[in-house]
Amino acid sequence: MEVNQDRIISFAAGFQYAKILLTANELGIFRLVAKGSMSSDDVAKTLRLDPEATAMLMGALVGLGLMSRRAGKFKNAPDVVKYLTDEAEPGEGMYCIATHMNHMYDSWNRLGDIVKKGRPKKLPPPKVILDKKKNREFICGMFEIGFGTAKLLAEKLDLKGVGKMADIGGGPAQFPIAFAAKNPDTKFVVADYPNTLNVAREYVKKYGLADRIKLAKCEFFGPGELGIGDGYDMALLSQVLHAESDKKAVELIAKTYRILKPGGRIVINENARNKDGMSPPPPMIFAINMLVNNFGRTFRVDELEGWLKEAGFKGVKTMRLHERAVVVEGRKP
Ligand SMILES: C[S@@+](CC[C@H](N)C(=O)[O-])C[C@H]1O[C@@H](n2cnc3c(N)ncnc32)[C@H](O)[C@@H]1O
Repeated sequence: MEVNQDRIISFAAGFQYAKILLTANELGIFRLVAKGSMSSDDVAKTLRLDPEATAMLMGALVGLGLMSRRAGKFKNAPDVVKYLTDEAEPGEGMYCIATHMNHMYDSWNRLGDIVKKGRPKKLPPPKVILDKKKNREFICGMFEIGFGTAKLLAEKLDLKGVGKMADIGGGPAQFPIAFAAKNPDTKFVVADYPNTLNVAREYVKKYGLADRIKLAKCEFFGPGELGIGDGYDMALLSQVLHAESDKKAVELIAKTYRILKPGGRIVINENARNKDGMSPPPPMIFAINMLVNNFGRTFRVDELEGWLKEAGFKGVKTMRLHERAVVVEGRKP
């Protein structure tokens, strides 16, 4: 990879580009303009924004190619309509994930201090968990970026004979929704926090799957077991472990082992690093998002494989779906 002035400036000024997109998205500018081209003054009036600053922000959006302007009226670029407005198809939109990224922005300012002094001993739980609206955007964002992966995994994973599957920390239920379409005989339980399940309920209803996908309140680290029953043929832990310490990740794998019936399979999907520990780029960068939010880290595939073996799983195997998704599978003897 060549490092030159252009490349350095594109990294160095990247936050400015990001903030222009994220601010316009969160303020609802793309969504409003999707209803019909508008002047920046009209946008400012409708959204109760400052007219001068709105005009400058919308000018920058034109500069980025996200909008165009003719005769004083702004219009979204065609792909903006596809991804950042209400016209986005389910699983294609990027509105929620971009809003969630904006909510992550402040934590990234901690990076310098954390690299100097290490992780803070204690940080309050992040707003994306506590605040209902922010949590909703986070969980919808998981649907947006995860539904494609879920459909891909549905193609690759053999679900023959899987009558009952648990999706632990299942978020918006995008995996059961994708798997249900391919496997008419499988029933699903999505285990998660109540706030998250409220979002999952909307998606499950939208796809007409309420009779096949049950939603179960769960706290991974509450006393005792997961509290969602046992005898499962398969249990999925998708993008859950990286937010935990190594000790808790191992504990959650052990709890998952115990809800499976003999012959049942665990399936882990993670934004994991290759065995070299230094590739591909997405988990290297995502690790920093975990660091600045004082969550966990990203794991290497061989660490995940090792934990499954230590928990007692046999036939452990790994498949990389794409740069953000590695699937590690094992069978309970
Ligand atoms: C990053 S999201 C992953 C969602 C989904 N599985 C996916 O692949 O997109 C992590 C999920 O775990 C849930 N979660 C995190 N900690 C939890 C805990 N201690 N108990 C129950 N659910 C938890 C969150 O609510 C969220 O839905």
